Amino acid sequence: MTESVSFDRAADYYDRTRTLSEHLIPNLLPLLPGDGVCLEIGVGTGRIALPLVEKGIRVVGVDIAPEMLKKLIAKRNGTWPCVAVADATGLPFADQTFASAVAAHVLHLIPDWRSAVEELLRVLRSDGVLVATRGGVSRPRWHREVRSRFFKEAGDPPWPPGLVTIDELDAHAVGLGLGVHALPDIVTEDSISVNQLLAMLEAGYWSACWSIDEETCRRAATATRKWAREKIGDLDLGRHTVETMRWHAYRLAE
Ligand SMILES: C[S@@+](CC[C@H](N)C(=O)[O-])C[C@H]1O[C@@H](n2cnc3c(N)ncnc32)[C@H](O)[C@@H]1O
Repeated sequence: MTESVSFDRAADYYDRTRTLSEHLIPNLLPLLPGDGVCLEIGVGTGRIALPLVEKGIRVVGVDIAPEMLKKLIAKRNGTWPCVAVADATGLPFADQTFASAVAAHVLHLIPDWRSAVEELLRVLRSDGVLVATRGGVSRPRWHREVRSRFFKEAGDPPWPPGLVTIDELDAHAVGLGLGVHALPDIVTEDSISVNQLLAMLEAGYWSACWSIDEETCRRAATATRKWAREKIGDLDLGRHTVETMRWHAYRLAE
């Protein structure tokens, strides 16, 4: 896979299959200067951008998926967030346009994610800040085992095409002379059964599943169910999950 992963196919179900921690916006707000505009790359349906606008931050969002942007436009009340179809690796903005930038759950979808980071630095003011997360990490062992068994049964498709860990982003940022600062982890607790998790994998709710054809997905889910019944037990029992999301801030002027 050499191209960025567009979420057009997820537009109809994205919002109902993703949650937003109540802690995220309060964590981000103190970092985003109110005297300038914030750019979000991979803004999607505005899951993060819309609540930021509600808190008074002017947000411009870009995405390569017009269907995701249509969902955002249908939800917004006014002109903010302003959106454009654009690729994060070639932003249609002049140098030093933005006071801050957000890259949430997107850099892993971009094979050339380092170019996207360099583009962000080009369009940020010299006192600007970039806040980023790679996505959820550190789930309980049973959850990780079910997922990795499913992907093994599906032939271990290569994933992700872009950034693998936030540590990789930190190393790149430090190499570019940026200061790195860790925000408090966002921890989300939930309850889900093995069958529910496998149903979501089989339905292809996550982009990691999109290179697997339907028949292979079905076979992988059936084989994983059989394995899990022996190794984990009751497939319908709700099991506790904890997902930890790491967010980091990167500053030019440090
Ligand atoms: C997982 S969604 C995250 C959306 C939003 N940031 C959020 O947290 O809800 C990733 C989004 O990034 C977009 N995307 C992927 N590659 C991109 C690129 N090269 N430039 C801009 N957007 C991109 C996808 O189309 C998708 O809408």
